Amino acid sequence: MSSIHTYQPTTDCLQDRIILITGAGAGIGAAVAKSCASHGATVILLGKTTRKLETVYDEIVASGAPEPIIMPMDLAVAKPEDYTNMAEAVEKEFGHLDGLLHNAAHLGNRMMFEQYDLELWNKVMQVNLNAPMLLTRACLPLLKKSADASIIFTSSESGRKGRAYWGAYAISNAATDNMMQVLADELETNTGIRVNSLDPGPVRSALRLIAYPGENQNQIKKPEEIVNGYLYLLGPAGKGVTGQLLSLQA
Ligand SMILES: NC(=O)c1ccc[n+]([C@@H]2O[C@H](COP(=O)([O-])OP(=O)(O)OC[C@H]3O[C@@H](n4cnc5c(N)ncnc54)[C@H](OP(=O)(O)O)[C@@H]3O)[C@@H](O)[C@H]2O)c1
Repeated sequence: MSSIHTYQPTTDCLQDRIILITGAGAGIGAAVAKSCASHGATVILLGKTTRKLETVYDEIVASGAPEPIIMPMDLAVAKPEDYTNMAEAVEKEFGHLDGLLHNAAHLGNRMMFEQYDLELWNKVMQVNLNAPMLLTRACLPLLKKSADASIIFTSSESGRKGRAYWGAYAISNAATDNMMQVLADELETNTGIRVNSLDPGPVRSALRLIAYPGENQNQIKKPEEIVNGYLYLLGPAGKGVTGQLLSLQA
């Protein structure tokens, strides 16, 4: 039986699924979006920088995969009504949603807890914790209309165990893990929606380079190398998996 670590997706494993991915313009989000599309999904690319989303859009269209949708949104400043408007647009276009990957994140600064800037603290919490809460709430009616819906929250090693100087990023990830558990527990009894939290492990990206500037980039995986774990959770292989704190670390 395959697991999140061994899963090998079939070409059509996400056929006809509608999957929304935040932070889809770069790094892990872009790689997962392209892989979802190449396995049959229509992806909704949500992110801050329109130009980056357009590049991913162009690559997906050029590959012959289902045409994606671009939704530029700055999660640091979006208001609750922006999320409901966005969900209404998805409802109008597709009628339902099968997958929701909360992948966007703001790293903030690595600094002492005592000195952490309050404005930065609020921004990290807004992007990493409040935005996924607001987006999930707005999308739940659409996810309830899916026959096999999956929500993935993103966490990190620093969220699973707090570490000096990781401040708001670590704490927001820990709170996200707990939010996942609250939601998974509520949804397990009333719906078929599965909810999990995933730590991708060390992956080459802009965020990673800022967090670990001294790291040898050639020794860590590229985003394309870890996408199967996401496809496992978003597709039929992940059926029955819910409420789990998962990691793609080797
Ligand atoms: N890479 C790792 O080693 C690692 C390890 C553990 C966990 N993670 C987690 O994996 C996820 C993906 O990170 P990554 O490594 O792929 O980093 P990345 O390449 O820097 O991607 C982060 C994404 O988040 C988006 N984003 C940031 N602020 C946003 C905002 N205010 N509104 C909307 N989108 C925003 C960025 O969009 P723009 O580019 O347009 O700003 C970008 O697409 C994050 O949740 C991160 O915490 C990564």
